[in-house]
Amino acid sequence: MGRKLSCVIVGAGHRAVAYASYALTNPDELEVVAVADPSPLRRELAAKRFGLPPERCFESAEALAAGPMLADFAINGTMDHQHVPTSLPLLDRGYDLLLEKPFATNESELWTLVESARRNGRRIAICHVLRHAPFYEAIRSRVAGGLIGDILNVQAVEHVSYHHMGIGFIRGKWSRTDYCRSTMLMSKSCHDLDLLAWMKSGVAPVRVSSFGSNFQFRSERAPAGAGTRCVVDCPIESDCLYSARKHYLDHPKRWAFYVWDSLEHIDEPTDEDRLESLRTSPYGRCVWKTDMNVVDHQSVVVEFADGCTATLNMIGGAAKPSRSIHLVGTHGEIQGNLEDSRFAVRHIDPRPGHEYSQEIVDLNVGGDMTGARGGHGGGDERLVADFLRYLNGESPSLSSTTLDDSIAGHLIGFSANRSLDEGRTVDIDLRAPRGVG
Ligand SMILES: NC(=O)c1ccc[n+]([C@@H]2O[C@H](COP(=O)([O-])OP(=O)(O)OC[C@H]3O[C@@H](n4cnc5c(N)ncnc54)[C@H](O)[C@@H]3O)[C@@H](O)[C@H]2O)c1
Repeated sequence: MGRKLSCVIVGAGHRAVAYASYALTNPDELEVVAVADPSPLRRELAAKRFGLPPERCFESAEALAAGPMLADFAINGTMDHQHVPTSLPLLDRGYDLLLEKPFATNESELWTLVESARRNGRRIAICHVLRHAPFYEAIRSRVAGGLIGDILNVQAVEHVSYHHMGIGFIRGKWSRTDYCRSTMLMSKSCHDLDLLAWMKSGVAPVRVSSFGSNFQFRSERAPAGAGTRCVVDCPIESDCLYSARKHYLDHPKRWAFYVWDSLEHIDEPTDEDRLESLRTSPYGRCVWKTDMNVVDHQSVVVEFADGCTATLNMIGGAAKPSRSIHLVGTHGEIQGNLEDSRFAVRHIDPRPGHEYSQEIVDLNVGGDMTGARGGHGGGDERLVADFLRYLNGESPSLSSTTLDDSIAGHLIGFSANRSLDEGRTVDIDLRAPRGVG
């Protein structure tokens, strides 16, 4: 075990607090020494949770960065469009960063952050938690070891469940590009784009095409007679698959940190508090009648410099959430589902009476988002532990996502969105523009 490290929380929302909580379970490895958040309630909750005195509670990242260095690093869990503006003053002050994804919302921001990190000589890890999930870690180590030869195709699929689609991208914080300044592809599936780049590590993505739209959640597809708010004026609510009552009141804990955001000031909200919240909050709206402007499904096709192709299909509104990956190499293939924590490794077997050999690798890790071993298949906690080791001087692990490692996946995403908007294939250039060291 390395030296005990200290951190500050920037943006005390559910993600940053989840990572920072590593300090509560591993107090000999990490200590939280300050928080910065404009919300007095969020500051107060974080101060209580981590035992922080008032002088260690700041109103913003900028206010924190204006003072002396207080810790070894900052956990930046602000929203997507705040990642770069809040990180720049922290980098200038000298903080290393554990930074949420997507780390930027467009290419210009991406290069601004890269320039600042390089100029300040700071270490940044991006929270690509799936790289730390045992399922993907085990696949990556086999690919890196050459087990299936040179990869010529990768197929990744993310099925976003109907309830996740509703809470995040129809009714929620990522439903409008002008508000969150990000897209569904980047907010939801930049992990999966990162996985494509990671599996091809060292080979540059060169071209991208993408197609997609909002197929389903439009007013013309609303069931006949649908109202505008499920618990206010909808006569067909009891028959509706997307009823806010069914999604949130019948499952009050499932997406609590999003849907009951407005009730954070109440220790134990009652059903009546929740019902009242759904009468007025964005989460009570009819899914066919919101002002969302993001896609509900998008396909991305990538070509790499060695001729390998890769696809990501992101589909929102699925009955079952799932992530799958299928890699085909010159000597064999790997195929599996994250939720099963199991994958098959197949090799060509041309002997008479044979076709292929198959080994099932079972990682025996339960659950994805809610696993007892931490969110994202155990990835959340392992990501923090990995970053602490990195700051303590160890070389980055196979799963570590330094800022430079995350550039390819992010550029695939920005280029895919440009392809979608402009109806053309988009070239990717991984070289930093002039002026970025
Ligand atoms: N890695 C993952 O798998 C994963 C999963 C979900 C969300 N995310 C990402 O995590 C990020 C945070 O999501 P969340 O739901 O926790 O957000 P959140 O809205 O709960 O928290 C963000 C916090 O930042 C604070 N903030 C705003 N401006 C600030 C400033 N200038 N200085 C300091 N704090 C400021 C807000 O008051 C808020 O409390 C998002 O970018 C999201 O896309 C990542």
